[in-house]
Amino acid sequence: MAKEPVRVLVTGAAGQIGYALVPMIARGIMLGADQPVILHMLDIPPAAEALNGVKMELVDAAFPLLKGVVATTDVVEACTGVNVAVMVGGFPRKEGMERKDVMSKNVSIYKSQASALEKHAAANCKVLVVANPANTNALILKEFAPSIPEKNITCLTRLDHNRALGQISERLNVQVSDVKNVIIWGNHSSTQYPDVNHATVRTPAGEKPVRELVADDKWLNSEFITTVQQRGAAIIKARKFSSALSAASSACDHIRDWVLGTPEGTWVSMGVYSDGSYNVPSGLIYSFPVTCKNGEWSIVQGLSIDELSRKKLDLTAQELSEEKDLAYSCLS
Ligand code: NAD
Ligand code: LMR
Repeated sequence: MAKEPVRVLVTGAAGQIGYALVPMIARGIMLGADQPVILHMLDIPPAAEALNGVKMELVDAAFPLLKGVVATTDVVEACTGVNVAVMVGGFPRKEGMERKDVMSKNVSIYKSQASALEKHAAANCKVLVVANPANTNALILKEFAPSIPEKNITCLTRLDHNRALGQISERLNVQVSDVKNVIIWGNHSSTQYPDVNHATVRTPAGEKPVRELVADDKWLNSEFITTVQQRGAAIIKARKFSSALSAASSACDHIRDWVLGTPEGTWVSMGVYSDGSYNVPSGLIYSFPVTCKNGEWSIVQGLSIDELSRKKLDLTAQELSEEKDLAYSCLS
């Protein structure tokens, strides 16, 4: 029997990530090749004509899984009945801007959209915040939507996770699908900590630690980390726009693994509400290694944290605490 369609909201759908993301969702890349979807696309009135153009293209592409499209500038209509909400709408960072510059523009959007989701989304709606500052926007959304379970509000650090996999695969000249269990800790910003201490590569002789195969701790502890931390800025410098296709693809990876589960023995990175694991202060949306099963994520427990890693985990937590204070000062 055919499955009931799932309603997926994409805010900022007329923007660059939106334009890359909606066809991926309509093709089943996010929720599976047998899962019909109804797309809800929200943007602001100046983008209404462009949004309608995206809707026209979705019709023209004749996606078999796409059972309906709502394209609107009305936040209530957009949020009504949605099962998955991908929050991309906001003001992107431009060349030369720090992420903090975009804070005041974006947190007030997330405060108002929190109440629309709380009142009108389907019960148990899963929320992924992509728009920057992603962790802090997600935290504001959580705090202003108190009836949405905190487990349902997450932010995107899967792009950073995928970037780390990509760097290791290039360095070792191995398939990216053979590399697993990198971790992004903390903020989706240049203080994030890409950690390879538990990462492995599948080889004909079995799984080997990334550290053993790379055999260059200097590179792993410096250039690798800064390359991943600065990749967003490097893309902006090269394209004059922030990353879009990789962000859209990673957003699909995030929701797919959350809904359908992570493969046995593999974890992924998600920005989730901290419960104090690894001595990360609770009350922050922080990126952790997680596994997913039956539509629920769980933080991977018991990983060893060396001294260098501890400092980096604390540094990015400190930045998130400061961002939280700044966000509240922007809202007051
Ligand atoms: P964009 O400017 O191309 O698109 C943003 C869209 O949001 C625009 O169409 C704009 O009209 C719309 N918008 C603005 N305010 C809105 C509101 N209140 N409600 C609904 N829509 C609204 O930007 P983009 O390149 O698509 O990037 C979107 C966001 O994603 C930015 O904040 C960017 O920094 C962030 N980003 C995050 C990651 C990540 O890994 N977390 C990666 C890349 C980009
Ligand atoms: C990215 O990681 O590509 C985006 O978050 C862009 C940015 O603002 O760094």
